[in-house]
Amino acid sequence: MRFDVLTLFPSLFSGYLSQSILKLAVDRGLIQTHFWNIRDWATGKHKSVDDRPFGGGPGMVMMPGPVFDAVEAVQAQAEPGELIMLTPAGERLTQKVVRELATKKRALLLCGRYEGFDERIRLGLKPREISAGDFVCNGGEVPAMLVIDSVIRLIPGVLGDEESATDESHSEEGRLEYPQYTRPREFRGMTVPEVLLSGDHGAVAEWRMQQSDLRSRERRPHEKRETEPKP
Ligand SMILES: C[S@@+](CC[C@H](N)C(=O)[O-])C[C@H]1O[C@@H](n2cnc3c(N)ncnc32)[C@H](O)[C@@H]1O
Repeated sequence: MRFDVLTLFPSLFSGYLSQSILKLAVDRGLIQTHFWNIRDWATGKHKSVDDRPFGGGPGMVMMPGPVFDAVEAVQAQAEPGELIMLTPAGERLTQKVVRELATKKRALLLCGRYEGFDERIRLGLKPREISAGDFVCNGGEVPAMLVIDSVIRLIPGVLGDEESATDESHSEEGRLEYPQYTRPREFRGMTVPEVLLSGDHGAVAEWRMQQSDLRSRERRPHEKRETEPKP
């Protein structure tokens, strides 16, 4: 899968890109990432990308010209991909959305800054609008990293044998993973449940299912699940 990120701060991604799973995925050729500075499409002496809002009010708004030009030029670099605008007003990023995005060959992630985008960017470019959650970040870069990070886990070959994306929280809607333990067997007076040390795979699987049911019911009581936890 190819990701093209359009941002005013491409350098924010460099540390994240050199991280373990993402770096491996890039090195193995499973994903490609390209970062584009929207300011490169700004015109005029000052290369402005933002201006004051019509009607008054605080802050600055991203102008349509540089964003349209950047998106159109980047789309033309390869087979057109899905354009995603990161915005707190978009559909929430859930595992269902992540699963859907992981089926795409290419995604363009458009990151806003300041007070956000001139409305004509949304109206004219018709992006899919995605929100990282019901809160406001300073820019779309961290939300874009969330999209990339969650999507690449589902691309075949990205996770090693030791890690699986199929048995995790939210791999089934509304279902949370069971508690996990590792060494030592006892830590500050807290012990590992006996069943996990028993070597009885059937008993372990049953305990995990019960714990997953319990957690899902307690922490996501109103969500519909494919397999309802046992009462
Ligand atoms: C400070 S925010 C603008 C918020 C905007 N004034 C509003 O009230 O909706 C600047 C940029 O950060 C990004 N952003 C902030 N919060 C986000 C979220 N929860 N999900 C996705 N993107 C977000 C968007 O790209 C947005 O254009």
